[in-house]
Amino acid sequence: MTSAGARDLPGSAGARDIRDNAVSARDKGTLSGITRAQAPTHEAPAPAKSAKAKPKRVALIGANGHGRSHRRKLQELSEANRLEVAAYCDVAEVDEPGEVPVYRDHQAMLAETRPDVVIICTPPHTHLPIALDCVRAGADLLLEKPPMLALADHETLQAALDETGQVCQVGFQALGSAGLTRVREAIASGALGEIIGISAFGAWQRDDAYWSRSPWAGKRTIDGALANPFAHATMQCLALLPQPIRIASIEVERYRARPIEVDDTATLRVRPVDGPPVVVAVTLCAEGFLPGSVLVQGTAGEAELEYPTDRLRLSTPDWETTGRADLLLNLLDDRDSLIAPLAVTAAFTAVLEHIHAAPTPIALDPARLVERHAGPARQVVIPGIDQLVRTAARRLALFSEISDLPTERP
Ligand SMILES: NC(=O)c1ccc[n+]([C@@H]2O[C@H](COP(=O)([O-])OP(=O)(O)OC[C@H]3O[C@@H](n4cnc5c(N)ncnc54)[C@H](O)[C@@H]3O)[C@@H](O)[C@H]2O)c1
Repeated sequence: MTSAGARDLPGSAGARDIRDNAVSARDKGTLSGITRAQAPTHEAPAPAKSAKAKPKRVALIGANGHGRSHRRKLQELSEANRLEVAAYCDVAEVDEPGEVPVYRDHQAMLAETRPDVVIICTPPHTHLPIALDCVRAGADLLLEKPPMLALADHETLQAALDETGQVCQVGFQALGSAGLTRVREAIASGALGEIIGISAFGAWQRDDAYWSRSPWAGKRTIDGALANPFAHATMQCLALLPQPIRIASIEVERYRARPIEVDDTATLRVRPVDGPPVVVAVTLCAEGFLPGSVLVQGTAGEAELEYPTDRLRLSTPDWETTGRADLLLNLLDDRDSLIAPLAVTAAFTAVLEHIHAAPTPIALDPARLVERHAGPARQVVIPGIDQLVRTAARRLALFSEISDLPTERP
């Protein structure tokens, strides 16, 4: 286990503050201000606000990988006359770009197409230089998560935003959840009583093909269950803490069932100066499948939000499906009131920086692992892990406090 005491977020004096980090007024965002009326956007997108409004020109850097889902969205919104697709850019070949101009070099693309908005969907360690070039070229950003890998980089981008007046929405799409707003309202109204803890758990299975999907897969300081696939779980929990967040301590336990540099199984506990502890317990070596839940436990009730699907149960056993506001539409329509501005993700970057500075993950004894399938579809399972992530989240515990998972290297 590694832990750290309190330290400052960029731009804050004294304790950490994710809202007050020399953020321009327009980039303050609405982390706690997503209204119900704003939220469900699963219907077809509405046409542009006025027939005269010229659709904004949107470019995408990093058009393969997850960029493909952005391309589908851009096409859909373009057909609805909500935007114009200015260009795609990727250092690799882009398949089926249609009529959209394709560039290999983002500087050339910025100079020639002058987009109003750029979606950056390149590997995390490439985000900062590309983001700086885009804002200096006069573009607003939809920057994929994790936005930055270090607080100093976070600060550098924030300074560039302040200087240029551009804004940056971070691709934590689950922050647009109407369910999250409902949970926040339940906390604020006292409906759940005193909040004892906020936690998240998830159990996914990722095979050998996943861990060789791209050059940065499984690489130290870039990838990992906590840092990448379950980043949304941590961000959702942090978003429910009293704002501004001031972090008192961070503890992390990381394990790996494969020969990778990062964690495929981990627990994280963040203790804020004000508010309840946050625990995140996740694995990519699941026996079955737990999609990802945020659990808020109070003295008078509890809430569980299945954040990938926006399903919510609020002090009842019954689930309801809530909707979600779309980050790109929010950026296009309301850039002065962003759902996920860079500033509100500073606490996430602080946690990430701590994870990356922690010792490399502990390799689990192969005798306790089970293999399924072969070739690229080979899976490694940690028997009992699905129940363990659930229990860790409920008990606000690290794995080593409630199981025989080791805390020391063999
Ligand atoms: N929001 C989400 O749910 C979600 C889901 C998946 C990935 N992501 C994020 O999206 C980003 C990309 O992830 P990915 O899985 O698609 O990675 P990837 O490696 O599969 O794809 C990245 C693409 O960027 C291109 N690229 C790399 N450097 C470039 C450069 N300098 N200029 C132009 N193109 C460049 C690569 O050729 C590749 O096509 C990461 O930040 C990741 O965490 C977010």
